[in-house]
Amino acid sequence: MTGLPDRYSAMMISEAGAMPELVERPLVAPGPGEVVVRMRATTMNFHDLVNLKGLIRGPWPRVPMSDGAGEIAAIGPGVRRVAVGDRVNTAFHPTWLAGRPTPARKRHILGDTCDGCLQQYVTISAEAVIKVPAHLSDIEAATLPCAGLTAWSSLREGACSVGDVVVAQGTGGVSLAVVQLAKAHGATVILTSRSDAKLAVGATLGADHLVNTTQFPEWHLVVRELTGGRGADIVVDVGGSTSLGRSVQACAMDGTVAIVGVLGGFGGAEIPVGVAMMANIHLVGITVGSVADHEDLCRTLEVTGIRPYVSHTLAWTEMPEAMRIMEANEHIGKIAVTIP
Ligand SMILES: NC(=O)c1ccc[n+]([C@@H]2O[C@H](COP(=O)([O-])OP(=O)(O)OC[C@H]3O[C@@H](n4cnc5c(N)ncnc54)[C@H](OP(=O)(O)O)[C@@H]3O)[C@@H](O)[C@H]2O)c1
Repeated sequence: MTGLPDRYSAMMISEAGAMPELVERPLVAPGPGEVVVRMRATTMNFHDLVNLKGLIRGPWPRVPMSDGAGEIAAIGPGVRRVAVGDRVNTAFHPTWLAGRPTPARKRHILGDTCDGCLQQYVTISAEAVIKVPAHLSDIEAATLPCAGLTAWSSLREGACSVGDVVVAQGTGGVSLAVVQLAKAHGATVILTSRSDAKLAVGATLGADHLVNTTQFPEWHLVVRELTGGRGADIVVDVGGSTSLGRSVQACAMDGTVAIVGVLGGFGGAEIPVGVAMMANIHLVGITVGSVADHEDLCRTLEVTGIRPYVSHTLAWTEMPEAMRIMEANEHIGKIAVTIP
């Protein structure tokens, strides 16, 4: 392959719970329909934290991290979708190209079921890369495959439109993307957080109403009050067991609660069934999205000029520190990791 090295560096997890270690691997030429992406950045998701702790089964050893941004370094025979030099994301679900979710489409996740993005080069199907908006840096673009697309899919499932009210919970990667994308849809956004300082950042991204959940643990009542008793059209729930019941109570009749996260723990959640039934609430599980959805997201970012919010950028040798920051909730929006 012209101009490409024979070998490259990757950060590899040897077994469940081991920290990623630097290894060298041979660079194989792309086969028919494949591309080689020179990775430049990845970002941490809560899911990556769980993976790095060894709690997601899969093949060992493997390269972690589901998000990636970089540029096409080589294309295999027959590839027309992208060209060498194009700046791209890799897809979170490389086999979910379009349409509704199916077990087959969702079978693969980069970093879980196969090697992920914490390596200098990724060889992948050309169908599973997405051109990124030109105004984004590699670090900003690396926020899109998981957090950005999950926020996009949540709003799409709720058919977000002008005049809607959207609730985003906390100031993590998914939630701040919800704030920015909901504003781009013409919605009013209510943002919750346990921190006034973090809420202030949310306000700079467009959040209209800020609710400190330490001060107002019954935050669903505040949402009701802010909406004249009606409730929000879309609530993007990231707490799960600790928040789903309140999310249902914060939701307007015929509104949508997007079930996205498990930050409150992996156990079950109590929901007021009568409220959900009588108010015709749509409860919908979200699992990131397809390549086609990812392309729609990128088009929206291109048109609106939105830039995802990244509070920390670390080197790839600093994965334990990236994990510590996330566990301590010190981040706002995304934690990025550069790839040398
Ligand atoms: N289903 C999917 O497709 C999908 C995709 C991406 C992520 N997720 C899930 O969504 C959740 C958020 O992911 P993320 O990557 O955005 O995480 P993140 O960046 O680590 O977000 C964490 C933030 O959420 C807030 N938070 C923490 N615990 C909370 C709780 N119990 N209830 C409400 N808010 C809480 C905190 O914000 P404050 O400090 O401001 O309160 C915290 O800083 C995770 O559970 C993740 O696994 C699911």
